[in-house]
Order: sequence, then C-alpha cells, then structure tokens
Amino acid sequence: MDRGLTGAAQVNRLPSPRPMKYVDLPNALRTLDDAFVNDPFHRYLRDTPDYNGGSLYHTAKQAENAIICNYYVASSGAWTIESGAAVVVYSPAKSTDSRVDKAVHYVLGGALSQGARLTLTKEQLKRDEELQAKHKAALEQVLGNRQDEVFNLRILAVSPTKQGQGYGSALARTVTGIADAQRRATVLISSNPTNTRFYNSLGFIEKGQIILGDDSSTWQDPPVVLLVMVREPAEYR
Ligand SMILES: CC(C)(COP(=O)(O)OP(=O)(O)OC[C@H]1O[C@@H](n2cnc3c(N)ncnc32)[C@H](O)[C@@H]1OP(=O)(O)O)[C@@H](O)C(=O)NCCC(=O)NCCS
Repeated sequence: MDRGLTGAAQVNRLPSPRPMKYVDLPNALRTLDDAFVNDPFHRYLRDTPDYNGGSLYHTAKQAENAIICNYYVASSGAWTIESGAAVVVYSPAKSTDSRVDKAVHYVLGGALSQGARLTLTKEQLKRDEELQAKHKAALEQVLGNRQDEVFNLRILAVSPTKQGQGYGSALARTVTGIADAQRRATVLISSNPTNTRFYNSLGFIEKGQIILGDDSSTWQDPPVVLLVMVREPAEYR
C-alpha cells in the first residue's frame, strides 16, 4: 500500500466488492485458511488433548467451508474483492426465505453437522456441543423474537497480505448497505477481541457474550470470549 496517500485517495483506489463467482472459490478458501490460522476460537475448537494434529480435521474444515461458500455463491450471499483475496458471506433475514430455501437449509445444515461430527475427537465433540448450546442461548437472549428478522454476517476474512487496506470494511459495508435498504439489523459473532474496534467503527455494538472453556478441565488457557454484536439499520441509530 502507498502509505503516502490520504485516506480518501486510498478508498478511491480500492477495487469494488462484487458478488463472488465459482471461479473465486479456491482463492477464497485459501484466504479463510490463512486468515483464521491464529484465531483463538478456532484453536479452542481444534486443540484438544486427544487431537493428534492429523490432517483429517483440516480436510473436513476445508470441505465444510467449500460447501458453505458454494451454497452462498449460488444464493448471492457471498461477495469478494480481488477474486477471493477478501471474502464476506451473509444470510438475509430467515423470515424472507422461500420454502425451498428453508428445505435446503434444513438438509444442508443437518448433513454438515452430522458429517463434521464424524471427524471430531471425543473432546472436540464436547467443545462443539458447548458452542452450539451457548450460541443458541446467547442469540435468544440478545435477539429474542427477532432472530428471524435480522441479517447474519457469517464470515468475514481478508488474506493476511491484504489486511489493513480497507477491504474488510468495504465488504462489511456491502452487507450492512443491503440490510439498511431492507431496514434490518445485522448480527455477527466476533471470534477475536482484537476486532472489536473494527466492528464498532462499522456501527456494530456488543450486546452479549459467549464464553467458552470457563468450565473445561482440558483447556488451560484463559476462557475464549466471543462477542455477539448487533448493528441496527442506519435510520434507527
Ligand atoms: C478483521 C478483518 C476482517 C478486518 O479487515 P481489514 O481489511 O484488515 O480491515 P480494514 O482495512 O477495512 O480496516 C478498517 C479499519 O479498522 C482498523 N482495523 C482493522 N482490523 C483491526 C484490528 N484487528 N484491530 C484494530 N483495528 C483494526 C483498521 O486500522 C482501519 O482503521 P482506520 O480506517 O482508522 O485506519 C481482517 O483483519 C481479517 O480477516 N482478520 C482475520 C480474520 C478475522 O478475524 N475475521 C473476523 C472474524 S470475527
């Protein structure tokens, strides 16, 4: 990046976000791999005492990401900058899903979670169940009866070599812009406390927490804190 440019000039030079295409997927999957390599949340789910570092876990994660990204490319819920170098994946409000969408989500969600379970160790499975239960409770507490009415920003990742150049905010704003046009809020789960200031600058506010590992005898590090962050549509802020 040209450090001599002013903020406005840098924004002008930023390539525009565009809907992701199938041809972008290999690069996008590499970006997801690289961006989350040191993420505390991903380490918590993976690094259990009974995990031997084998490649099955990683292969299964890649397959899961590939299926998810394929689905969101097909349904126009995935956007990118520079052909997969930066990626955002979102789902619109569930209440706007057609019956076909609902059926696809049901089948795909079930197949993915059953498939993933087959590749997890006993301790990884326990942590995954802890996550599912606490995630459900936190969304109920934060969103109550509007869970089906909000946008969900599911994945945001920028390749490490492209971070800090405005790509992440441009992609996040693409999603919140679509949500604003429908006068809807957007929810996300932030997996890394270092991103809080970044999300605050986009209008997301912490509304709840998911604390993992606080009662686990096999996790020696401090508990992992995920933030449930909500951005109300522009006119209500
Ligand atoms: C978090 C992430 C998506 C941000 O994307 P990015 O392209 O690097 O961010 P941007 O360049 O758009 O940043 C915009 C602003 O936020 C700031 N910012 C970005 N990441 C930050 C961080 N981790 N901590 C503090 N500030 C941050 C930038 O300095 C910039 O501020 P400025 O406009 O005042 O200079 C990206 O760093 C990433 O992919 N990280 C690894 C994966 C991840 O954590 N994904 C989110 C999971 S919840």
